Amino acid sequence: MTEFACHRSLFAILAILALSTGCRHNEPTTVGTAAGDGAKRSFPTGFDFTALKQRVDWRAHVLASGQLDDSGKASVERGRALFAKVYTAQTGLGPFYNNTSCLGCHNQGGVLGHGVPDVTTHFWAGVYPGNDADEAKNPRLMPHYTLPGHAPFPMPANFAHSGDRLPPQLMGLGWIEAVPGEQIRAQPHLAKPEPGVHKEPMGWVPDKPEAARGTMRFGLKPAVGTVDEFIIGALHAELGVTSPNRAFDKDDDGVADPEIAFDAVVDLANYVALSESPARALPPEHAVGLQRFKEIGCANCHFGAFTVEGKATPQFYSDLMVHDMGPELADVQQMESSPPSYSRTTPLWSMHLNTGPYLHDGRAPTVEQAILRHAGEATKARDAFGALDDAAKKAVLDAVKNL
Ligand code: HEC
Ligand code: HEC
Repeated sequence: MTEFACHRSLFAILAILALSTGCRHNEPTTVGTAAGDGAKRSFPTGFDFTALKQRVDWRAHVLASGQLDDSGKASVERGRALFAKVYTAQTGLGPFYNNTSCLGCHNQGGVLGHGVPDVTTHFWAGVYPGNDADEAKNPRLMPHYTLPGHAPFPMPANFAHSGDRLPPQLMGLGWIEAVPGEQIRAQPHLAKPEPGVHKEPMGWVPDKPEAARGTMRFGLKPAVGTVDEFIIGALHAELGVTSPNRAFDKDDDGVADPEIAFDAVVDLANYVALSESPARALPPEHAVGLQRFKEIGCANCHFGAFTVEGKATPQFYSDLMVHDMGPELADVQQMESSPPSYSRTTPLWSMHLNTGPYLHDGRAPTVEQAILRHAGEATKARDAFGALDDAAKKAVLDAVKNL
């Protein structure tokens, strides 16, 4: 990675960006234990990619084999409690934050569920289009809240646009993490995104050879390849909780940094990744609608044929690639891996649990509107859907709502 990219990744406020590899050291850091008992022990840092890869391999094996040992189960249980933990000013919340717990945002229909817009929306700002090494021009997270007694979040002077992000559901994410990058790359793809050039149905793969599975796959604009890395960013960006994974992850809220121990981050990641997937067998009455979904081209993007250790993954209804969705669906966030109009195909495997709204910022109140707002590489599929007669349209919609 170039110096330029490091600089950029360090300053982009989307904290997960800061996890880009290549800018940090790999040595273990010594930090206090989660118990805060003053004892010191060595944890591998988040940038110790050997340890991270081993953990991802271990989780892939747990999922493929269905076997989780007692220490793994204990880690998952600790992670479950952390996911629901409500942070306060005394325990590390802030100074800037969007909510007080993970569960506060990922909760529609139950723990780890989709987010609802009123409490969870997430704002972004930046000068768009146009992204260069100037920090002030990069997209920034606009936190909703500031702890009392702290100066307000310093918005960039040239703030020009903002956008929202709806929290996605997190069930079964370990399966998405476990897919070998070569399987994602084996699908038809472009070497490089060419904004405005819609080569339907090709997508782009945010490759990263040093990532645990070789490609990035989490987030609307995939910036990381592992659940652990995303969570480190979420802790910082959403809760204002600093972790020992980043040398520069410090804040001035009066609570000693890091505010969460690395083992606890791993517990959270194990809990999220090894949670039960939302996938279910499609009720048979929707087989015809699913067939139509494939015929009109939805499955060019919303389908995957992936295996982990030889075992088929649940069907994500996503190719885990990034596609040009046209200017209307562009997001304010712009980064190397995904220019504004490029977004990861949303996995539809939890549609039966998702009562909406839909699309990355919740702009579509219904599934039908979400489909009709597809453009760019999805234009042909959208138009084919629009051209169906009412009965066929209803069959597709009913199938999609039941995936
Ligand atoms: C203020 C709301 C909010 C809070 C609090 C929050 N998240 Fe999220 N989360 C989001 C949003 C919005 C996204 C989508 C971001 C994107 O696409 O770039 C997201 C995405 C994720 C993802 C990636 C999902 C995927 O499929 O790519 C993971 C993992 C995640 N969050 C875990 C957590 C954990 C663990 C916590 C607690 C430490 C947490 N989140 C707290 C709003 C929140
Ligand atoms: C070129 C790839 C592509 C094709 C083809 C495509 N989609 Fe999508 N789909 C996406 C992407 C990318 C998103 C995320 C867009 C966003 O949120 O801005 C998405 C989002 C969605 C969503 C919203 C999910 C949510 O939880 O917000 C639904 C529903 C959906 N697609 C259904 C369909 C159907 C039905 C078809 C066929 C008519 C189709 N898509 C064709 C790429 C595609």
